[in-house]
Amino acid sequence: MVPKISTLSGYLYEYQKSIADPTGFWARVAESFYWRKPWTKVLDWDFHKPEVKWFIDGKLNITENIFERHLFLRAKQPALIWEPNNPKEPHRILTYEELYREVNKFANVLKSLGVGKGDRVAMYLPMVPQLAIAMLAVARIGAIHSVVFGGFSARALAERLQDAQAKVLITADGGYRGAKTIPLKQTADEALEQSPSVEKVVVVRRTAEKVPFVEGRDLWWDDLMKDAAEYCEPVEMDAEDPLFILYTSGSTGKPKGVLHTTGGYMVYTAYTFRNVFQYRDGDVYFCAADIGWITGHSYIVYGPLLEGATSVMFEGIPTWPAPDRYWQVIEKYGVNEFYTSPTAIRALLAKGESWPASYEMKSLRVLGTVGEPINEEAWHWYHDHVGKGRCPIVDTWWQTETGGIMISPLAGITPTKPAYATLPLPGIRPVIVDNDGNKLYGKNVEGNLCVEFPWPGMARTLWGDHERYKQAYFSAFPGLYFTGDGVKRDEDGYYRILGRIDDVINVSGHRLGTAEIENAINEHPLVAESAVVGFPHPVKGQGIYAFVVVPDLREELDDELRESLVKGVAKIIGPIAKPDRIQFVNGLPKTRSGKIMRRILRKIVHDSTDFGDISTLTNPEIVDELIAGYKALNG
Ligand code: WTA
Repeated sequence: MVPKISTLSGYLYEYQKSIADPTGFWARVAESFYWRKPWTKVLDWDFHKPEVKWFIDGKLNITENIFERHLFLRAKQPALIWEPNNPKEPHRILTYEELYREVNKFANVLKSLGVGKGDRVAMYLPMVPQLAIAMLAVARIGAIHSVVFGGFSARALAERLQDAQAKVLITADGGYRGAKTIPLKQTADEALEQSPSVEKVVVVRRTAEKVPFVEGRDLWWDDLMKDAAEYCEPVEMDAEDPLFILYTSGSTGKPKGVLHTTGGYMVYTAYTFRNVFQYRDGDVYFCAADIGWITGHSYIVYGPLLEGATSVMFEGIPTWPAPDRYWQVIEKYGVNEFYTSPTAIRALLAKGESWPASYEMKSLRVLGTVGEPINEEAWHWYHDHVGKGRCPIVDTWWQTETGGIMISPLAGITPTKPAYATLPLPGIRPVIVDNDGNKLYGKNVEGNLCVEFPWPGMARTLWGDHERYKQAYFSAFPGLYFTGDGVKRDEDGYYRILGRIDDVINVSGHRLGTAEIENAINEHPLVAESAVVGFPHPVKGQGIYAFVVVPDLREELDDELRESLVKGVAKIIGPIAKPDRIQFVNGLPKTRSGKIMRRILRKIVHDSTDFGDISTLTNPEIVDELIAGYKALNG
């Protein structure tokens, strides 16, 4: 097990040590794992290149660290507890031994399909145990997994399959989300028409609906598993061999294939899991995220399983059949640590406190949040009504690119403050810089959040595009990793994350690039151009506001056109990217070089007229029209 901090002075001591001697610190953490061959050097790095390598020449397999390392002690302990969407359906428990067997068998299946080291295997699955099994099977044979969130459209899936040149896709006949059935296979089939790299498709049976099957390409999971051998030798990986790709949105339209490697990611997710949640042996831990996002990768699958934990995997949604679904699950399994998003908390808060009030949830010890800033009201509600005033909240700040939690309280150790992510974890050196790149030291400062020293869990590149990796993270402030977030450090030295300051909006904790949404809107034949910005939304944190230029606007068509734009975006990206508000306009505020001045649009949707200098606009008259239209639309 990784070294565990258990007091505030312990944290302060470890933090100081990790800064004074980062390589010594991380080497000590890494020593708790099983390495087939030890590293010869802990770290090589250069943020200007950029290049980061941890545990150089170290050899390992991450699944050996999950299974072989734990089996002797934990064979009969539940590794995964799977809770279905519908509470009437039976749940499923996979012990370490059982999960190990499934992973080995599926690893053999993948091998039989011709998958080898370095090949990409994509998953487009609901939250079923087979998703975790498949990820670990891929890791066991040294291939690279790429999980695509099940809410993405055919087009978005195809784009990701093509970019990764995936060889195999694992999907399901369908999936359940609350009262809805999601036709995953149908969507996958559509995507596969444009994904020639995919040779085989493995289909998990979930809804048992009849789905079309392509002879020679499509195979049932169950059929393949029937005859698979029960042991598969783990492939020895270099610490810096890729483990997975996970696509996320950036400032341009094209999704970024964030690449994580094996050794550093392993060390970092396990260390942060154990310390942030203060997981104790025998606890039941429940992260309600979807594995389609990084939170599910790091804190449903890898972090917990590496630490021999029992991890609950939930297929459903918090509000179906009723808004007490999480509280049911917590009581059913005696959950000790619960981790969810501010959006889910706000959605449940809106349903009233009587729902959590009917559950004692005595087992709960720690509450966590992730993905977006949490407002004070939601923080207090979570604290008082879910945690009954006795559970510390860990507000964990991190990103797909950071691999694991970066700034967060350690549960019960770091004194918390509502809406503050508080202090950096050991080994993490956040730095605040102003727009000119000057580092702002001391207290009560606000600016761009950067990190000035590497950590083992950081993304190493963007799949197939190292130049874009450099551009996106290391060029705004040379020599520093730039997060894209704004931040404040208060009089206690505590960090408060203020949200994205680039062209990314965070809708219900899901990152969406404004350019992606604009591209989708612009595909409509009546649309000349568009600009999308985030606006404050009571539940989702940020909502999507689209200013759309339609040259031949006829008022009677407004509603029809709005509906068809929303449908179009759902089809092109997925329902998560649907605009909440669409305002038709005659033009957008532009600079002489033709750039849209988004700052103005952002101010408008924040009910502000404090535009600053707009003298560089070629069409300043448009601003009044935009404000008038905004008021007409939003009352
Ligand atoms: C935001 C999710 C405030 C932030 C793990 C970041 C947060 C983006 C927090 C990454 C938090 C994440 N407080 N904001 N505790 N956690 N964010 O890649 O803007 O899906 O840059 O990773 O979410 O989103 P991603």
